[in-house]
Amino acid sequence: MKVLFLNGPNLNLLGTREPGVYGKTTLADIEVMVKEQASASGVEVEFLQSNSEGELVSFIHGARGKANCIVFNAGAYTHTSIALRDAISGTGIPTIEIHLSNIHAREEFRHKSMIAAVCVGQIAGFGVSSYLLGLQAAINVNGK
Ligand code: DQA
Repeated sequence: MKVLFLNGPNLNLLGTREPGVYGKTTLADIEVMVKEQASASGVEVEFLQSNSEGELVSFIHGARGKANCIVFNAGAYTHTSIALRDAISGTGIPTIEIHLSNIHAREEFRHKSMIAAVCVGQIAGFGVSSYLLGLQAAINVNGK
């Protein structure tokens, strides 16, 4: 089983970006934690990040036939991107939406997710643990 962890805009800045909101852990640190937990479960994980909406669409297309599941922190594109929503529904790859912060407890513009309706479910507000919970959800979804 393979899980693709897809990370959207500004998540490359984790560690220094608004640490009061997103914590001090870098994306590279998160990748190590997720891969440790994944290998204990016999699951292969790939991490990708892009600040570009089109590249994220291409990453989703490229996961066809390769990844069983996508765990997706789409960053700010969560709230705006019909293109990402269509890529998820168009490929049919089961996708789990994740966020470090609780988007529903923040500014109103973050309450709406364009991708939520085409995702299996949403995990938000658990900091770095949102990634680990996302991995667990992907394993459950895939029945492994
Ligand atoms: C985020 C929440 C988004 O609203 C924000 O634009 C991000 C990060 C999160 O992980 O909490 O970039 O997806």
